[in-house]
Amino acid sequence: MYRIVEEGAAEAAAREALLDRAFGPGRHFKTSARMRSGRLPADGLSLVARTVASHRIAATVRLWHVALGDGIDGDARAALMLGPLAVDPSLQSHGLGARLMRHALAEAACRGHRCVILVGDPEYYERFGFESGLAGSLRLPGPVEQHRFQGFELVPGALAGASGLVRPTGAKAPPVVESLLALAS
Ligand SMILES: CC(C)(COP(=O)(O)OP(=O)(O)OC[C@H]1O[C@@H](n2cnc3c(N)ncnc32)[C@H](O)[C@@H]1OP(=O)(O)O)[C@@H](O)C(=O)NCCC(=O)NCCS
Repeated sequence: MYRIVEEGAAEAAAREALLDRAFGPGRHFKTSARMRSGRLPADGLSLVARTVASHRIAATVRLWHVALGDGIDGDARAALMLGPLAVDPSLQSHGLGARLMRHALAEAACRGHRCVILVGDPEYYERFGFESGLAGSLRLPGPVEQHRFQGFELVPGALAGASGLVRPTGAKAPPVVESLLALAS
């Protein structure tokens, strides 16, 4: 009934509309949203679940490049930050969010990424193996409820000893992409 594929170039407006329906207008002011602003997601990790019959976007998830730690001693490590994950409100609680999450984490591992962080409801993300303890010594560049800030190791030990500031490192989005996104939201 659904196919998980890379988001198409013309699907940004539909994805933003879905995110508005799922999260409401306050979503742009969260620390994680500010970190994503003006950046491109990691290659191959903008995923949507499309209905096979109508090709409509039913769910979306994207992952973004970040660096963990201040890097003053050259010890910053590469990671991915996941979000937002959202399922169209009319299609929630049928396993689609879980399917998209597992697909995204498997794809990230296949692409050689080592760990993923996110800010979200622990009661939902713990089923995939996310733990707040793995992000306990990291901090984001803005307010966040610490228990909602979680990590997951694609490679065992990849978050061991990670500490310090998390900063976005993905490629900058061309200005035209930014203005189209602003129009779409
Ligand atoms: C969160 C979300 C992605 C989950 O996707 P989904 O397809 O609806 O959920 P799934 O079918 O994968 O999983 C359903 C289970 O997750 C639970 N669940 C759903 N949203 C949850 C949440 N925010 N917190 C805790 N548990 C949640 C359901 O109670 C259900 O539990 P059960 O398996 O014990 O019955 C989706 O509901 C969504 O987009 N919500 C709006 C955005 C949001 O609230 N995000 C909060 C997480 S940061």
